[in-house]
Amino acid sequence: MTTPFAPRQWSSRFAFLMAAIGSAVGLGNIWRFPYLAGENGGGAFIVIYAITTMGIALPILVSEIMLGRMGRQSPINTMRKLIAENRAARFWTLIGWGGTVGAFIVLSYYSVIGGWALKYVELALTGAFAGETNAAAAEQFSAFVTDPYSVALWQTLFLAATIFIVAAGVTSGIERAVVLLMPLLFFLLVGMAIYATTTPGFGEAMIFMFAFEFHEVTPDTILAAIGQGFFSVSVALGAMMTYGAYLDKDVSIGRSAIVIAVADTLVALLAGIAIFPLVFSYGLEPSSGPGLTFITLPIAFGTIGGGVLIGAAFFLLLSVAAITSAISLLEPVVAWVEEGIHIPRKWLALIVGGAAWVAGIGTVLSFNLWADFHPLAGLGLMADKTVFDVLDFTTSNIVMPTVGLLMSLFAGWVLSSSAAEEALGARGKLWFRLWRFALRYVAPLGVMSIFVANVLM
Ligand code: PHE
Repeated sequence: MTTPFAPRQWSSRFAFLMAAIGSAVGLGNIWRFPYLAGENGGGAFIVIYAITTMGIALPILVSEIMLGRMGRQSPINTMRKLIAENRAARFWTLIGWGGTVGAFIVLSYYSVIGGWALKYVELALTGAFAGETNAAAAEQFSAFVTDPYSVALWQTLFLAATIFIVAAGVTSGIERAVVLLMPLLFFLLVGMAIYATTTPGFGEAMIFMFAFEFHEVTPDTILAAIGQGFFSVSVALGAMMTYGAYLDKDVSIGRSAIVIAVADTLVALLAGIAIFPLVFSYGLEPSSGPGLTFITLPIAFGTIGGGVLIGAAFFLLLSVAAITSAISLLEPVVAWVEEGIHIPRKWLALIVGGAAWVAGIGTVLSFNLWADFHPLAGLGLMADKTVFDVLDFTTSNIVMPTVGLLMSLFAGWVLSSSAAEEALGARGKLWFRLWRFALRYVAPLGVMSIFVANVLM
C-alpha cells in the first residue's frame, strides 16, 4: 500500500521504548500524582494506585500497543480496519473516536500546565526562588496563574514546541531528544529525592506516603487511583496505539509494556519522595491541589547551594518530559487527519495544535477570570469544579476508564485467542494466559465496579 505521507516507523526497539516512556513519564508523574495522592489521603491512594496500575492499566497497555500494531494506522482507522477483519460491530470504533477526542481535550489543558513548567525555568534562572519561604512560594505561584496573559503566553510557547516536533515527523525529531533527556530527568529526580531525605519532614512524609489506612479507602480514592494509573501510563487515549502502529513486528510487546509501566511508576514514586518531605518540613498542606509541585520545590531550590542551576535544569527537564507526552497526544490526531486530508503534515500539525490552543483558553482562565465559574453546576454536577477541573476529571475518570474498558473487552473477547497470541508473538506462553485473564475479567470488572460504586454512593 502506498501512502501519500512519509512512512511512519520507529528506527529501533530502543527508540520506541524511549518514545513510549517519554509519553508515559510527564506531568502526570511529577505534578499530578503527588497532588492527587495528597488530596486522597496518601498511603491508601498510593498502594491502590500501584495495584490497579499493574493489574488493570498494564494489561490494557499491552492490548493497546497490540491493536495499534495490528492496524498500523491512526487509532480511528486502526479500529475500522480491525472490525472489518474480525467482522465485529461498528460500535467498537468508539475506541478510536473516544481516544482521539480524549487526546485532544487532554492536550488542551496539558499544554497550559506544561506552560507553567516552562515559566518556572525562567523564574529559576532569574533567581526568583532565593531564600523563599512557603508563603512567598505560594504567593509567587498564585501571582503567576492569576495573570491570564502570562499563562497564555507560556501555554503558547509550550504548544509551539510540541507542534514543531510533530510537524517534523516523530521519528526524526523526538527519538534523539528523548534518548538523551529522559535519563537526565531521572537522575535529577533521584538527586531531589536524596536531598529530600535530609529534610526534617522526611519521616512524616514516608508515613504519609506508605502507611496504608484502610478507613481512608473510598470508591472515590479507588476511582482516582485507577484514573491516575491510566493517565500516567498513557493508556486509553490512542497515544500508545499510535506508537504501536509504528512498531516493528519483531519487538516483544509484553516485555516493552512492563518496562514502560515500571519506569513510569518508579518516576511517580520518586516524585512523591522528592516532594512530600518538603511539604511536611515547611508546614504546607499535602492537599493543596495543582499548585503542590510548583510551590514546594522552589523552596528547596531557594535553599540549596547551586539552586539556581539545579532548579532551572529541573523545570527544564520537567518541561521536556511534558513535551514528550504532549507529542504523543497530538500525534494520534495528526496521524488521523493525515490519512484523510492530503496536505503536508506541517500544516496539519499547526491546524490541530492551533485548535488545541483555542480549546486550552478555558483552562487558562480557570485559574483567574473564571476561577469561580463552575460550568456544570447548573446541571447539579461537579458543583465545585472549574473548567479545568471538569476537563481533567471527565477525561481521566470517565473517558479513559471507559475507553480502557472497551479496549479490554475488544482485545479480550472480540479478538480470538489465537489472533491475539499471534499478534503478541506469545504462542503457548504462560504470561499470555495471565494477560488474557486480566484483560477478560480483572480489568473490566475492576473498572465497572468502580463506576457502579460511584453512582450508588
Ligand atoms: N502519561 C502522561 C503523563 O503522565 C500523560 C498522557 C496521557 C500522555 C495519555 C499521553 C496519553 O503526563
